[in-house]
Amino acid sequence: MSGRRALVTGASRGIGQAIARRLQADGVEVLTPTHAELDLASDRSIDEYLRQLTGSVHILVNNAGINPLAEIRAVQDEKLAETLQVDLAAPLRLVRGVLPLMPRGKDCRILNISSVWSVVAKPGRGVYAAAKAGLNALTRTLALELAGEGILANSLSPGFVDTELTRRNIPPAQLTALCAQIPLGRLATVDEIAELAAFLCSPRNTYLTGQNLIIDGGYTCQ
Ligand SMILES: NC(=O)c1ccc[n+]([C@@H]2O[C@H](COP(=O)([O-])OP(=O)(O)OC[C@H]3O[C@@H](n4cnc5c(N)ncnc54)[C@H](OP(=O)(O)O)[C@@H]3O)[C@@H](O)[C@H]2O)c1
Repeated sequence: MSGRRALVTGASRGIGQAIARRLQADGVEVLTPTHAELDLASDRSIDEYLRQLTGSVHILVNNAGINPLAEIRAVQDEKLAETLQVDLAAPLRLVRGVLPLMPRGKDCRILNISSVWSVVAKPGRGVYAAAKAGLNALTRTLALELAGEGILANSLSPGFVDTELTRRNIPPAQLTALCAQIPLGRLATVDEIAELAAFLCSPRNTYLTGQNLIIDGGYTCQ
């Protein structure tokens, strides 16, 4: 993987940090803009970041995401707009901006970090689920539009991963009960997600494109 360059969003912690470290361990040069350098809630920030981005980018990992919980009748307009912006529109704008920097015939890869809530439902996740399902749809279109250039695009949908986001949204007592509902009996580690992400972003993945890979310890097959 040496000689390859990646852009990973939301790499300050959690899954994004683990993916960035895993790619670095494979010899990839990884760009990890901070929230201040690339604020996905702001189109202006995205445009400014893309304007100063030069050189080749072989791998784009749209990882950053937000997940404000609210049942539909309590959804606030600003949270609706922010979630659709950060989780769906920003990844699309980043893909559009990075594509001219992806060298043709060099095994370039796009990975969108989605969620099991893009395929199954839970009360309070309506806006997040809609944004992530939209991200999966974007992935499928990218796969078709970019196949001719050898660029593979996939979504990766984790279930419950041990990160700040999970611990913020699920109180400790509920976490124990939740683990009992996961066939493998525990949360995923960020490194388990990063391992699959690294494969999908590598030239070892030669034929998998347009898919949404669910990694959830068996949660959604029940
Ligand atoms: N954790 C899970 O169980 C789980 C399950 C399924 C899917 N996912 C998905 O996996 C991805 C990562 O989740 P995580 O649990 O690692 O999240 P996390 O611990 O909350 O980290 C989120 C990352 O996104 C960044 N971010 C948030 N808003 C941003 C913005 N407006 N502009 C730029 N960066 C922003 C954060 O930066 P700051 O630290 O600077 O705010 C942070 O680096 C998300 O897309 C999430 O939906 C997570």
